[in-house]
Amino acid sequence: MRIGRRTLLGAGLAAPVAGSLAACGEAPEQTGRILRSAARLPKAYETPLPLPPVKRPSGGMIEIAQRTASVEILPGLRTEMMTYDGVFPGPTLETRRGEAVTVRHTNSLTLPTATHLHGGHTPAKSDGWPTDLLLPPGFESDHSHHAGHGGGHEAMADPKAQVTTGRRDYRYPLEQPATTLWYHDHRMDFTAPQVWRGLAGFHIIRDDEEDALSLPRGERELPLMIADRAFDEDGALRYPALDPELLGEPGVEDRYMAGVLGDVILVNGAPWPEAEVDAAQYRLRLLNASNARRYSLSLRASDGRPMNLTQIGSDGGLLAAPVEHEEITMASGERFDVVVDFRSLAPGTTVEMRNRLGTGRTAQVMRFRIGRRATDDVRIPTMLADLPEPEKPDGAVVRRWHFRQASVHGRRGWGINGKPFDPAVPQARVPLESTEIWEFFTDAHHPVHVHLSPFQVLRRGNRGPGPMHLGWKDTVDVRPYEAVRVRVKFEKYAGRFLIHCHNLEHEDMAMMAGFETV
Ligand code: C2O
Ligand code: CU
Ligand code: CU
Repeated sequence: MRIGRRTLLGAGLAAPVAGSLAACGEAPEQTGRILRSAARLPKAYETPLPLPPVKRPSGGMIEIAQRTASVEILPGLRTEMMTYDGVFPGPTLETRRGEAVTVRHTNSLTLPTATHLHGGHTPAKSDGWPTDLLLPPGFESDHSHHAGHGGGHEAMADPKAQVTTGRRDYRYPLEQPATTLWYHDHRMDFTAPQVWRGLAGFHIIRDDEEDALSLPRGERELPLMIADRAFDEDGALRYPALDPELLGEPGVEDRYMAGVLGDVILVNGAPWPEAEVDAAQYRLRLLNASNARRYSLSLRASDGRPMNLTQIGSDGGLLAAPVEHEEITMASGERFDVVVDFRSLAPGTTVEMRNRLGTGRTAQVMRFRIGRRATDDVRIPTMLADLPEPEKPDGAVVRRWHFRQASVHGRRGWGINGKPFDPAVPQARVPLESTEIWEFFTDAHHPVHVHLSPFQVLRRGNRGPGPMHLGWKDTVDVRPYEAVRVRVKFEKYAGRFLIHCHNLEHEDMAMMAGFETV
């Protein structure tokens, strides 16, 4: 699948080509621009790795309070954040396959939210459609016309929006394999700043099949949410929003339109943390929750030895068999479930997680320190799960989705098939239970995310999926001028769902489309 130069220029934009956006000098292989902190930044590996509190359903229900909280991220400074339950990341929700759960969110923030379970096989009305807003009590209805792009664009209103005030129940059937999901804000036009301010957490699904496998568990299973941020001198988050009140014009200052890259790397909300571990195998549930930053992660022990990352799972659950990686490349929204083996390391050894796509301090992520020797009888199985072979079914419908710069209500922005997001007008009607081939075309890096059902990557350019795109995916890192072909089958739930770029600045600047399953 080749894209001709003519097609690329066919978008007909006066804006500079995306190549210049992608480079930005300081950030190799990133689509975005660095926003520097004014705060004094801590030394690496001095903050212990925090683990978010765990919440399990009781009587089929989990309650979450969305509220403003002042959180210590940088040592000695306070950062005012938008949070789930007063913590960042939000609590980790632990649930089981097939045990439906209702998550009741109450909004006592000052802004509307829409909560999405990323990777969840979820009925439309609980999927966090961007105009299905949950308003805080007393939020002036004056603001409700801001549910559309840029306040004034009345044409963007969504007559089907389901707006509620105070509290909202999201129902998740969770009929899907064990995996690492995450929940985050999805408010129309303002997802990027609201996630940046703290609205993100893990949601883990477990099941009997996975429990039956020999895998590291308990304290040897660590969810790791990797996210970059930038801070003012006093600890406040920096972000180049056009309207810092997040009520009027959406999007960011023009020079950040490719994406906002922070200069501080947080893991579970701590800057460059260190985790004390046993000399044992660990399961790491890696999540890239950054707005725009991509990472290529690798491990190196203090004795100079590189260490492999053994991938056992992808976005949508376990792989058929483990895959060894020296490095894992992750775009925004993606998860990699990996096992690392510290058994041969002497107490006192440290293992650094590095990021090849960073420069200076963003090349560092976190560190493990081997505390003590320990028993470990885990034997990673050679077969993990039954997965269908990714093959193109004969006669399947092929749909093409072009992710490129576009003009968005007179401003520079991002579009899909040349159009900015319009919540009232789906770009496709897709029959349920039928397999389709979707193709994604790009001008810059665009991590393409599809709601409702996972997909299998069939081809990247003229090759197969490659080692980074195995198993069930819901987000695929599509590189500049690349064509990626996936196989997808939407099941069970009819209604409105989304396909969008998971670079959250792109998403807010309209790189999103609805599709309707019928
Ligand atoms: Cu993680 Cu539609 O988003
Ligand atoms: Cu999603
Ligand atoms: Cu994008």
